[in-house]
Amino acid sequence: MTTALITGANKGIGFETARLLAERGVDVVIGARDPGRGEEAAARLGVGCVRLDVTSPETITAAAAFLAERFGSLDILVNNAGIAQGGPPTETPLDLMRGLYEVNVFGVVAVTNAMVPLLLKSPAGRIVMVSSEVGSLTVTTDPANPWGDLNSLAYQSSKTALNMVTALYAKELAGTAIKVNAISPGYCATDLNGFQGDRTAAQGAAVSVSMALLGDDGPTGTFVNEAGVVAW
Ligand SMILES: NC(=O)c1ccc[n+]([C@@H]2O[C@H](COP(=O)([O-])OP(=O)(O)OC[C@H]3O[C@@H](n4cnc5c(N)ncnc54)[C@H](OP(=O)(O)O)[C@@H]3O)[C@@H](O)[C@H]2O)c1
Repeated sequence: MTTALITGANKGIGFETARLLAERGVDVVIGARDPGRGEEAAARLGVGCVRLDVTSPETITAAAAFLAERFGSLDILVNNAGIAQGGPPTETPLDLMRGLYEVNVFGVVAVTNAMVPLLLKSPAGRIVMVSSEVGSLTVTTDPANPWGDLNSLAYQSSKTALNMVTALYAKELAGTAIKVNAISPGYCATDLNGFQGDRTAAQGAAVSVSMALLGDDGPTGTFVNEAGVVAW
């Protein structure tokens, strides 16, 4: 059975990703920083759950040990956990930016490095990085783009960094069975944006699922949304 770990999956796009993958017969484990919220979400879906705060090395190590014990390997890792805070550069406290990077960038690297040994044991490992089009340098520097006016230093630059992180993992793992891709879910109504998004969390999750269930002929090192390739 195909196995998956999704970080930050107790709500929002991560929860819907867990639901959709479970519907496709995947043995899903939800990662949640709060065990209570995680257990409650996992019970609703009938899937597994592990405590996983992406800023806590102890919980990351324990989660990898849990998955090694439960599955022996891992087929899919969806780095979904993320936070959005802050405004334009001159109004961004460094502490806020550091805290956001701990989750959106360093947390992804820490979790991925802990899970790669398990993913290498899979015949078809898949890593999905949940990024955003607002992290695209092409989009941000295009005044004609609807997101061209957005100016949120910490969040946007964290997703730009995540895109490079994606490209470099893909490069390093190119000789293995692991494919690494970044996705943009689109603007989805979740807690992250006060439910302002014009898409559902499930629509966003479907993009993660498409890259999580990628065939062996699928790409690695790409950045995609529902419609196809997004410019970096
Ligand atoms: N919504 C959008 O329009 C949109 C657009 C582009 C990209 N994204 C990306 O999609 C991903 C999911 O966001 P969402 O919209 O579904 O937001 P959400 O509903 O706020 O969910 C975020 C999830 O991340 C978890 N999380 C936060 N900090 C964490 C940590 N330190 N360790 C582990 N989990 C942590 C949250 O857990 P708690 O419940 O404990 O807080 C929650 O489960 C994020 O990476 C976001 O940047 C969203």
